Amino acid sequence: MAGLTITGLHKRYGGFHALKGIDLTIQDGSFAVFVGPSGCGKSTLLRSIAGLEDVDEGKIAIGGEDVTDLRPRDRDIAMVFQNYALYPYLTVFENIAFGLRSRKFPETEIRRRVGEAAEILGITALLDRLPRHLSGGQRQRVAIGRAIVRQAKLFLFDEPLSNLDAKLRDEMRGEIKRLHKEIGKTMVYVTHDQVEAMTLADRIMLLRDGRIEQEGAPLDLFERPSTGFVASFLGSPTINLIPGRLVTRSGRSAVVLDTGESLDLPAQRAKLDDGERPILLGIRPQYLTRAAGTLAAGHARIEANADLIQPTGTRTFVTSHIGGVAVTAELAAHDVDNSEGRIAYALDMARAILIDPSTDKVI
Ligand SMILES: Nc1ncnc2c1ncn2[C@@H]1O[C@H](COP(=O)(O)OP(=O)(O)O)[C@@H](O)[C@H]1O
Ligand SMILES: [Mg+2]
Repeated sequence: MAGLTITGLHKRYGGFHALKGIDLTIQDGSFAVFVGPSGCGKSTLLRSIAGLEDVDEGKIAIGGEDVTDLRPRDRDIAMVFQNYALYPYLTVFENIAFGLRSRKFPETEIRRRVGEAAEILGITALLDRLPRHLSGGQRQRVAIGRAIVRQAKLFLFDEPLSNLDAKLRDEMRGEIKRLHKEIGKTMVYVTHDQVEAMTLADRIMLLRDGRIEQEGAPLDLFERPSTGFVASFLGSPTINLIPGRLVTRSGRSAVVLDTGESLDLPAQRAKLDDGERPILLGIRPQYLTRAAGTLAAGHARIEANADLIQPTGTRTFVTSHIGGVAVTAELAAHDVDNSEGRIAYALDMARAILIDPSTDKVI
C-alpha cells in the first residue's frame, strides 16, 4: 500500500506563505495531478512530498507511514523533473543504472532492472548512446527509466513534458499514461496544462494561491466547477462568462443580459428564491449550437453577428458579441461557412454555470 495522505500542510519562504493548509488523500495506485497557474504552489507541494523542502506545519504519510521528518532518500519515492538532469558523460545504460550503483546493487540485478525499464520504455537500442545523441523525447524516456528502476513506492513528476514540442508532448503524454497502467504505481504529476491534467488524471487537485480550490475526477471538475476560477481554468476554448441579472419570479428563473435579452433557465435547475441578483452566466463554447427550427428542451435562443470565424478542421470557432461581451461558439465545421453573417444560437441552459460575481462561487 502506498497511497499518500497530507494533512494541514503549510510552507513559508521567509514572509511568503506558499502553501496555506493543504489536506489531501491520494489512493494507492492512482494517478493524481496537481494543476493550476504558474506560482500557485504545485512544485512546492511536490517537493515537500519528496522531502526536498522542509515544511512548517502539517504531516505527510506515504503508505500509512509518517515521512514528514525523513530525508528524501529514505522516502522511497522517484522523481522526474522538467530538465531531465542526465549525466552528459554517462551512457543511457549508466544514467539509468546510476541510482542502483550508488545504492550498491549487485551487477546482475542492475542489468536485469535496466534491461526491463528500457524494454518498457522502448529504448533498448539506445542503451550505449550518450545523452547528446538523443532527441528530447528520448532523453525524457531515460529520465523516466531512472525513476522506474528504483521500483519506488511513489512516482513524482514535475512538468516533465514542458520542454518538448507539441507533437512529442502528446506522444509522451500517452506513454506516461500507458506506463502507469503497466506498472500500477501511485503517480503524482504536476502541470500547468489543463489538457495534460484532464487526460492523465484519475483525480485532479486544482491549486490556487497555495490552496486546493477544488478536487475531483476530471469530468466532475469540468462539468461541476465550484468557482468561476475552476470553470475558466479547465476547457479550451475558455468558458464564456456573460454578465447579467438572475431574475426569479414564482419559481421560474431567467438570466437577463445587460443588453436586455432574457434567457430562460429550465425549471429543474437548482431551487432559487424569488428576487434578483447580479450573475455571470457561464456557458462553454460547445453548448452554443445553431438554432434550427424548434428549440430543444432547456435551450434559449439568441441572435448575434459572426464577428470572427476560425475553422480548425473538424470544429469551427465562431466569435460573436452577446450581452456586451465576446462569446465563442464551437460548431461542427459543416455547420458554418466562412461568409456567415448573422447566426441564431441555441444556448443549452441546462448546462449553464451560474456564478456569483461578488464571491466567484457557483450557485
Ligand atoms: N525557494 C524559494 N524562495 C522564495 N520563494 C519561492 C521559492 N520557491 C518558490 N517560491 C515562491 O512560491 C510560490 C510557489 O512556487 P512554485 O511552487 O514553484 O509554483 P508553481 O510550481 O505552481 O509554478 C511562487 O510565488 C514562488 O515565487
Ligand atoms: Mg513549478
